[in-house]
Amino acid sequence: MINFWQKLPKPFTALAPMENVTDYLFREIIATNLPKPDVLFTEFTNVDSLNSAGVKMALSKLKFSLRQKPIVAQIWGTNPENFFKSAKIIKDLGFDGVDINMGCPVRAVVKTGACSALINNRPLVKEIISATQKGANNLPVSVKTRIGVKEAVTNDWITFLLEQNIDALTIHGRTARQMSDVPANWEEIAKAVEIKNATSPHTVVIGNGDVKSYDQILEYHKKYKVDGVMIGRGIFSNPWVFDKNNSKTHSQQEYKEILLKHLSLLRPDQNYESIKKFFKMYINSFKGASALRFKLMATKNVSEASDLLK
Ligand SMILES: Cc1cc2nc3c(=O)[nH]c(=O)nc-3n(C[C@H](O)[C@H](O)[C@H](O)COP(=O)(O)O)c2cc1C
Repeated sequence: MINFWQKLPKPFTALAPMENVTDYLFREIIATNLPKPDVLFTEFTNVDSLNSAGVKMALSKLKFSLRQKPIVAQIWGTNPENFFKSAKIIKDLGFDGVDINMGCPVRAVVKTGACSALINNRPLVKEIISATQKGANNLPVSVKTRIGVKEAVTNDWITFLLEQNIDALTIHGRTARQMSDVPANWEEIAKAVEIKNATSPHTVVIGNGDVKSYDQILEYHKKYKVDGVMIGRGIFSNPWVFDKNNSKTHSQQEYKEILLKHLSLLRPDQNYESIKKFFKMYINSFKGASALRFKLMATKNVSEASDLLK
């Protein structure tokens, strides 16, 4: 069956799932006020939380608008039964796909055996993917991973993952141990593309790591033959990073207007402090930006911040 991944243009673009960053409000800004990538992902959401008394909080991470589609929900954990149930919830919510996190290197999650720790636990990976596929009931299931834990094991690991009949695979070109401390290894990503061409041509491969511009997306697509390119931190330095006319520079006014819009989306019941992490992204690259940011950081509510920006 043709799924949405296969209908995307080549190369397609994706905004990386980023905990505490790619929340509903930020995705809404990306979908409506900035150049929109071809795919959006939610922050990672724990499958046990989705199946516990804390479900309300977990579900708030899975809120999206139709403007954000196509959108993929990312989940993490170790319990196959909860992956099955979570995939069902995600299907019912109307997402376009389910993505399983097998890449996060953060100690607190790795300690539980989840995320990048799964790279060394093939029997559990098999169970998790199979349970997710059953729960997703024809919704495409993808995996986001790294090239290894302590060292690159690309051939072995990617061959194994592709045997699980996944619809899409995102590879961040670093080992878990490397965190984000060394440049991403795109040669390893190219190896994964070769494996998929030989063994699972229907699976879509997305490369990830250190991409900062649309020109670079085109270059890496050509050089490393990935179907799509995912950008994470590149959006912090350039919110217009998915603009296909790359070259345009943006005025101070444009940056301020986007922040004003972002502030306007905050509902009264939402924590005002949570939006301050975005100030640096918008108020950064122009003369007087740091003085303005300093004042913005001291504000207590949306109206104080908005007054400073008008
Ligand atoms: C603040 C932050 C939060 C992240 N949260 C997630 C996450 O929830 N799920 C995930 O798969 N990766 C997460 N990542 C990793 C990114 O998706 C991406 O793989 C990584 O940043 C490398 O891409 P980049 O060089 O384009 O930033 C996070 C990265 C950052 C910087």
